[in-house]
Amino acid sequence: MNYWWVVPAAGIGQRMQADRPKQYLELAGRTLLATTLLRCHQLLPQARLVLALHPDDRWWPACRAELEQAAPELDLMTTQGGAERADSVLAALDYLQPHAAAEDWVLVHDAARPCLDAADLKRLLQQASPIGGLLACPLADTLKQATAQQTVARTLDRRHLWQALTPQMFPYQALRCALQRALAAGATLTDEASALEWSGLEPQLVIGRRDNIKITHPEDLALAEFLLAQQKD
Ligand code: CTP
Ligand code: MG
Repeated sequence: MNYWWVVPAAGIGQRMQADRPKQYLELAGRTLLATTLLRCHQLLPQARLVLALHPDDRWWPACRAELEQAAPELDLMTTQGGAERADSVLAALDYLQPHAAAEDWVLVHDAARPCLDAADLKRLLQQASPIGGLLACPLADTLKQATAQQTVARTLDRRHLWQALTPQMFPYQALRCALQRALAAGATLTDEASALEWSGLEPQLVIGRRDNIKITHPEDLALAEFLLAQQKD
């Protein structure tokens, strides 16, 4: 049985409002994308890596050169992503079809999440159920449901609410079929687990660190640099 890293990196980083897609911004001397890919490779080197890229991406060649220098042994395949994150993940899984077996494990990890913790990944690998699982953390803040007028409709009971992180880990064929079915039915998916849920399955929630942040807004960059500097392994 094999492991695969699938890294969706075909977004345009609209909320970051930078001069390029956020995955190509520099973070502690490296592009964010290179940092994330090197971390994936470091933590699970036996897993091959598939990257979904935007069709108009012109920054990738420089990033690839950066990676070749840092980790010449890195086994990396690239394919074209789609309009939404789920389309990009499905495109990567389609691309993998000749290479992957149905029961292979796929770990989907956001290109924009560079601070993956070694112990978190280990826990995910150990605790995911046969259906699969995802890193997640119980919510710390009180959550309000809003009305159309931006007033509070109600307060949600946060005891049962978790924030979904990545990696999210599922058997190759199960994830591919779930994504195909859910997308064909017009479901809106912002992570992989929701595709499995759509098929009536219950992925395992595996507790992960809150500082496994997804870089989304400009202020997240400085925080990620700080977190990376603290990382011990
Ligand atoms: N992603 C992707 N294909 C898309 C949209 C997003 O592969 N069509 C990837 C992003 O590159 C990112 C991850 O999915 O690594 C999480 O998405 P997000 O943080 O929303 O990134 P962007 O979509 O690029 O940012 P924004 O929503 O602000 O435009
Ligand atoms: Mg997005």
